Amino acid sequence: MSASIDLTTAIRSIPDYPKPGIIFRDITTLLGDAVAFRQAVDELVAPYKALGIDKVAGIEARGFILGGALAHQLGAGFVPIRKKGKLPHQTVRMAYSLEYGTDEMEIHVDALKPGEKVILTDDLIATGGTAEGAVKLIRQLGAEIVSACFVIDLPEIGGRKKLEALGVEVRTLVE
Ligand code: PRP
Ligand code: HPA
Repeated sequence: MSASIDLTTAIRSIPDYPKPGIIFRDITTLLGDAVAFRQAVDELVAPYKALGIDKVAGIEARGFILGGALAHQLGAGFVPIRKKGKLPHQTVRMAYSLEYGTDEMEIHVDALKPGEKVILTDDLIATGGTAEGAVKLIRQLGAEIVSACFVIDLPEIGGRKKLEALGVEVRTLVE
């Protein structure tokens, strides 16, 4: 097995995006690096391999990329959680808080069955408002959220603590 790389070196930081004072952590460089992408997926998936996971739920948009890879490795199904108005079939909708304001996300009403074991994934957790909304949707359908995983945690913003307070295990790769 080859030595592991420091994944922080594969993540690009863009100053003043999307607005002045914000440093945007851009994972497109990690996704485009075959070694880093594989390592990130392998590290995210390792703790879940023996847990009998039924579905991986990915949050639009970058959670789709990670979630598809995780689902494939786990032999699980993939479920998209999308911004409102994008899913074609009947949905359940949930308001969620953003850093400034609120938005709404949706899941197909039949995407998860009661009791199914679900992993939630996204590229990054900041305030945790987005992931909190997703956890509520998963639970509203009666499924069990086993864990939530992210490539990047911004610990000073407190999202991990918000999810843990909901009783959700959180796994992240880099801070
Ligand atoms: C980003 C990121 C997470 C969310 C994290 O998505 O991909 O989904 O913000 O922030 P939070 O923990 O404070 O909720 P964004 O809302 O920028 O949407 P996008 O994926 O469509 O670009
Ligand atoms: N990158 C991606 N999504 C985000 C970020 C970031 O730096 N901050 C809040 N959401």
